[in-house]
This record gives sequence, structure tokens and C-alpha cells, in this order.
Amino acid sequence: MTDAELRTMISKTLTCRIDKRENCGEKMDQFLERCFYHSGQYDSQENFAELDRKLKEHEAGRVSNRLFYLSIPPNIFIEAVKCASLSASSGNGWTRVIVEKPFGRDSESSAALTKALKQYLQEDQIFRIDHYLGKELVENLSVLRFSNLIFEPLWSRQYIRNVQLIFSEDFGTEGRGGYFDNYGIIRDIIQNHLLQILALFAMETPVSLDAEDIRNEKVKVLRSMRPLSLEDVVIGQYKSHTKGGITYPGYIDDKTVPKDSLTPTFAAAALFIDNARWDGVPFLMKAGKALHNKIAEIRVQFRHVPGNLYNRNFGTDLDQATNELVIRVQPDEAIYLKINNKVPGLGMRLDRSNLNLHYAARYSKEIPDAYERLLLDAIEGERRLFIRSDELDAAWSLFTPVLKELEEKKIIPEYYPYGSRGPVGAHYLAARYNVRWGDLGSEQ
Ligand code: BG6
Repeated sequence: MTDAELRTMISKTLTCRIDKRENCGEKMDQFLERCFYHSGQYDSQENFAELDRKLKEHEAGRVSNRLFYLSIPPNIFIEAVKCASLSASSGNGWTRVIVEKPFGRDSESSAALTKALKQYLQEDQIFRIDHYLGKELVENLSVLRFSNLIFEPLWSRQYIRNVQLIFSEDFGTEGRGGYFDNYGIIRDIIQNHLLQILALFAMETPVSLDAEDIRNEKVKVLRSMRPLSLEDVVIGQYKSHTKGGITYPGYIDDKTVPKDSLTPTFAAAALFIDNARWDGVPFLMKAGKALHNKIAEIRVQFRHVPGNLYNRNFGTDLDQATNELVIRVQPDEAIYLKINNKVPGLGMRLDRSNLNLHYAARYSKEIPDAYERLLLDAIEGERRLFIRSDELDAAWSLFTPVLKELEEKKIIPEYYPYGSRGPVGAHYLAARYNVRWGDLGSEQ
């Protein structure tokens, strides 16, 4: 690619967020003029040295920082880091590296990766991305908890019955089967995205908003959790399904996936935090591809009102109608609280209504993409939303035993049709803990 071709490519998706809109064109042109394309091999120190020479020409002796963003296959990770670090580090400013998951496949391979990275980089140079941490509503979790009086006092086993973390996509692996088949949904979504949300949700109040203080609290929660056991997991894999004359492919119809693959494209799990705040509260996670909808949300189901007057006097079936707080991470961001309310009129009838903060209605501003925030944070050296190596170790310890067991015992996934609600096993798992998935009712 030439520089001009690269600039044309970038300009198609470039947006501008400065307040004075009239300067946008000028700013974008200035930005594009600073974009250059350089081609080379990931594992060639000589090629990285050429990159270094080229960068130096543009830096022209000024103090210059360098940020390498590696969105590359895991098998060439270390080589690229080695070359970048040895042949293309900044001479007079900082050098940082952003890495994308997969950070290994289990505790051992993740530890080996960290060890190899640390041959060339200090921990404070490594920015491990979990892009769910950059999502607006995940960022807002701490604000909601710690800057409102009304939530934090209820945030414990005393008032919360269960917490659900739900991720669902309405498309399959579509072309990414080669990567996916080696990892599966537990490594792809649950061990990182959903677990990170759980850690933020359940952590104790950090000493400050400083990155290390927050990450210390997250590590504490992760280390208080019980490793997931096989009986607390349900796995599934989507199969081909024909609907309205259209045939949707099954997972193993993907050409890059072996026909006998047992890799889960759906999983549900029940996790527990053995500390004073959360003892006995099930944290249920559910993640799947090729389901009926695309959504990511956190659902907090509260306990029953003790001695509820309205149950007694009116025989209303409030059994199901406990309060529920829903944080819809995407799409159509919203936070709503389900409450019981009197239906207006002379009689006394109750129904369930929502106190609703619907982002599109409340905020006219466009919500930035998670990566915008994370890349900016990496440039500014803000580490709050990146994963520290001890966090990563703790996260892997929770999932490695069950992942190994699933693979060693060759557990067969429950097959579910493309576009369905996923395996029924997920309901039995929830029922075992007296939980009903909250995303089944029609609402909103
Ligand atoms: C990635 C997973 O981390 O997240 C993908 O590897 C998944 O499988 C994606 O599709 C979902 O991200 P988002 O931001 O589109 O919800």
C-alpha cells in the first residue's frame, strides 16, 4: 500500500470529536498527513530497524514517544514485541505496546506469554486490552455504584439474589472459525469480557480512582472466587437451521472448522465469590454466538420484600416481581430499574414498570467506541482500563481446570439451532440455583 492509499482507507472511517466542528476538515487533513505505511516482516529485526529509521526522519530529533498496537495472530506476538523493543524503541521518550487477546489458552500458556513479554518490556509498558472495559456503560458501573447513595448500600448478599451477565450475538463465527476453534466461547468472551465486568461490579470500594487502586480491588475479588466446576457449566454449539426459506450454517459448516469440532459457541456458568459481601450469591454468565439477538447486559435481581403487604392483602402474585436493575451495555445503551407500581385508577392493582435512563433519549452525544477510549488512555498512560498480569493470572486460575476437563473428557456440547435462544441446559443450570434468566421476559 502507498501512503496515499492508506490515507484514503483511513479517511473513510475517520471521525472528528472536537467541539468546534468547523475546524474538523483541517484537523482531519493534518492527522492524515501524519499517517504513513511501512511494510515488513513481524519477525525481522532488520525490518523494524528500517521502521525505526523512517520514524526518526519524521520525529526530526524531537522528544518522541512510540506506541505499538499489535493486532496480530498470537503465534507471532513475542517475535514482533522482541523486534519492536530491540530495534524500534523510542530513544528519548516512552515506548508502549498494546496487546490484544488471546493472552494464552490457560494458566500455563498465559504465564509463559507474560514471562516472554517481560524479557523485552516492563509491566508498565504493556497495555493488555479488554475492549469491554472501554464501553461506556461498563465505565459507568463505578460511577453508578460509588457516586449514588441508593445503590451501594444494597450491593451485597443481603439484598441481591443473583447477578446475571449476558452476552449474545445474532451471527456465527463467520470466517473467524480458524481462530475461534482453538479457543471457544469461554476463552473468547467469558474468561475476559464477562469476568472483567463481574470484577468491577463486585469489587470493594477502591482507595482512589488510581489505576493501581482499582486493579488491586479487582484482583482481590477474582482471588476470592471459587474456580468454576464442571457441574456449573453448560456448553452448546450452534447447528444449521432453515427459517423462512433461508438456511443458516452450523458452526462446523465453516470451512476453517474441523467437522468433528466440540468447541463451544455457547456457554452458561454459575460462579461464586467466597467473601463476606457475596457469599452464596450466584453470578450467572451466559455467552453465545448465532443466537436470536445481539445484546450485552448486566442484570441484578433483588430479593423479595420481606412480609410484603401487597402479597398478603391482595393476593397479587408478586412472587416473580422482585426489583431488577438492568444495565444494557449494548446496543441502545440504557439503565433501568424494574419496580412495582400501582396501576392508576380507583382499584388497587399493581404492575411492573421501569424507571428508565435511556441514553439515546437523555444524551444527544454519540457514544465513543470502546477502542477510541482505550487507545487514548494508552497514549495518556492511563492504565485503569487495562489488565495487569496478576489480574490475568487470577482470571485464568478460575477457568483453567474446567477448560482442561471439558477438553480431556471430550464433553459434547448441546446443539442449538442457529438463531435460537440457545441450549435448554442453561435454564436447568439457573434453576438449580433458583434463578430465572432475566432476559426471557419481553420488555423495553
Ligand atoms: C471479541 C470476540 O473480543 O469481542 C468476538 O473475540 C466478539 O468473538 C467481540 O464478536 C464482540 O465485541 P463487540 O464490541 O462487538 O460486542
